Amino acid sequence: MKSLWLDTAPDIASDPFEPGAEYDTVIVGAGLTGLTTAVLLARAGQRVAVLEARSTGAVTTGNTTAKVSLLQGSQLSRITSHHGAGTARAYVEGQREGQAWLLRFCEEHNIGYDRRDAFTYATTEQGVSDLRTELQAAAEAGMGAEFVDRAPELPYPISGAIRLADQAQIHPLQVLAALAAELRERRGLLVERVRVTNVSVTRDASGSRRAEGGQAGRRLTVHTAAGQVTAERVVLATGTPFLNRGGHFGVLKPLRSYAAAFSVPGSIPSGMYLSIDSPTRSLRTAEHAGRQVLVVGGNGHSVGRQQHTRGNLEDLVRWTQNTFPGAELTHSWSAQDYEPAAAVPYVGKLSVAEDRIFVATGFNKWGMINAVAAALALTSTMLGGAKPWAAELYKARIAAQDALSTLQTNAEVGLELVSGWLGGLVRTSHSAPPEGQGTVVRESARPVGVSTVDGSTRRVSAVCTHLGGVLSWNDAECSWDCPLHGSRFAADGTVLEGPATRNLETK
Ligand SMILES: Cc1cc2nc3c(=O)[nH]c(=O)nc-3n(C[C@H](O)[C@H](O)[C@H](O)COP(=O)(O)OP(=O)(O)OC[C@H]3O[C@@H](n4cnc5c(N)ncnc54)[C@H](O)[C@@H]3O)c2cc1C
Ligand code: FES
Repeated sequence: MKSLWLDTAPDIASDPFEPGAEYDTVIVGAGLTGLTTAVLLARAGQRVAVLEARSTGAVTTGNTTAKVSLLQGSQLSRITSHHGAGTARAYVEGQREGQAWLLRFCEEHNIGYDRRDAFTYATTEQGVSDLRTELQAAAEAGMGAEFVDRAPELPYPISGAIRLADQAQIHPLQVLAALAAELRERRGLLVERVRVTNVSVTRDASGSRRAEGGQAGRRLTVHTAAGQVTAERVVLATGTPFLNRGGHFGVLKPLRSYAAAFSVPGSIPSGMYLSIDSPTRSLRTAEHAGRQVLVVGGNGHSVGRQQHTRGNLEDLVRWTQNTFPGAELTHSWSAQDYEPAAAVPYVGKLSVAEDRIFVATGFNKWGMINAVAAALALTSTMLGGAKPWAAELYKARIAAQDALSTLQTNAEVGLELVSGWLGGLVRTSHSAPPEGQGTVVRESARPVGVSTVDGSTRRVSAVCTHLGGVLSWNDAECSWDCPLHGSRFAADGTVLEGPATRNLETK
């Protein structure tokens, strides 16, 4: 599976890794968050290096649907119910600033983007009620959306929709390529295929941390398999943070979903649409090979907790071909993002103690603007500025109800952990799975994953190298996925994404 964006991406070269190099800031991760942060710091004169485990945009940014919209499903009502209208107003203000920055960047770098109206629509009475709640939250947050009864462009009936005019859609890899080019013009480095495994704090001779202030000895050491580099500050722009010390893995729910592009005879809806009811349907257009194609997304689920994930993609393709007769599949792909228990992204210091390591996560499938907003907020803090909306939005907080939903999520995680280990103990089978399939078997009381991909049967430990979850097979992508915090591994055990940093042992 390769996304339309990665398939049509401009070339983005990698710089060599320089063991022992010293930087002002090391950014970990070359998605939209990492590269925007890097460019902003490089513009301020910093010496910046971006270290990317895979290739630029390989994870979520390259597999998104890339709507750059302030209308975001039920996001504002969720934020309002958790924190009140003041926080929702701060969210909207941050989104406006992030969207304006991103579109201005596109214009300044001659990157085409489309202005489109955005719609969140309902097909049920419950959906209409949810739309009304969202509309109310939007009004309180100062976002002027309107209710409409019909969406004439859609070839199926709806019960109502919220419309927000003049939003945008982009090709995310074109944006990443332009960010990478500007970073290099400003002496920054982008190094691909280097996974960061740890960040340690340099201590002085007495073993205590030195005080704030930038003196020698205060540097952070960034550890990779290729060697170490040092920096004054580190930004983890890694989707979910891989350092456990901030505890973010416990307050983020990894959610995976599917997307596909289609060549459709006749006209296709030009707006950007998202259903508020289940199953999710997300629509937008894109230009491909000189014509407009339809991009459809949906059918999401918690990572690692669904059997036969390929069925989700097949269902999406079937739905599109039934809804748009003659639609021909050109690309299909899948990706995950992280739902924050607090309803707002976690952006700021890794922890109170580790105040020179920063994180940006929890974009809840709305990271095209949230990534930029986070980059603007983080760099403003790092450079000594302040953004009032960011101070309100990103205050460290887990309210009582967030703690409850976190406990609920963690109870599910605990259940997955126990049932994974017990399940691994009972399923004993040593025959090779059929092509494209994988299964977990018991060997000396340890879960072992056996899979067959492209004719090769491979055996790896089925125990996640993050915190010991038992992995399950994802037959849509031929990967081992962890139901606990969303780490994913290729059939040969190589880490693909998530908080894990070590490959699975081969057996
Ligand atoms: C199916 C889907 C559709 C979406 N559609 C939209 C949309 O229409 N509009 C919208 O606003 N948002 C959307 N989103 C959300 C948006 O795509 C993401 O929030 C955003 O791309 C996240 O960007 P990022 O840079 O934070 O993370 P990523 O793009 O995931 O980048 C993180 C990078 O860090 C690297 N990395 C991780 N660990 C390490 C390590 N230890 N060392 C080195 N590198 C590391 C990874 O390899 C990766 O390249 C969607 C998400 C999904 C899943
Ligand atoms: S991702 Fe945490 S245990 Fe697997």
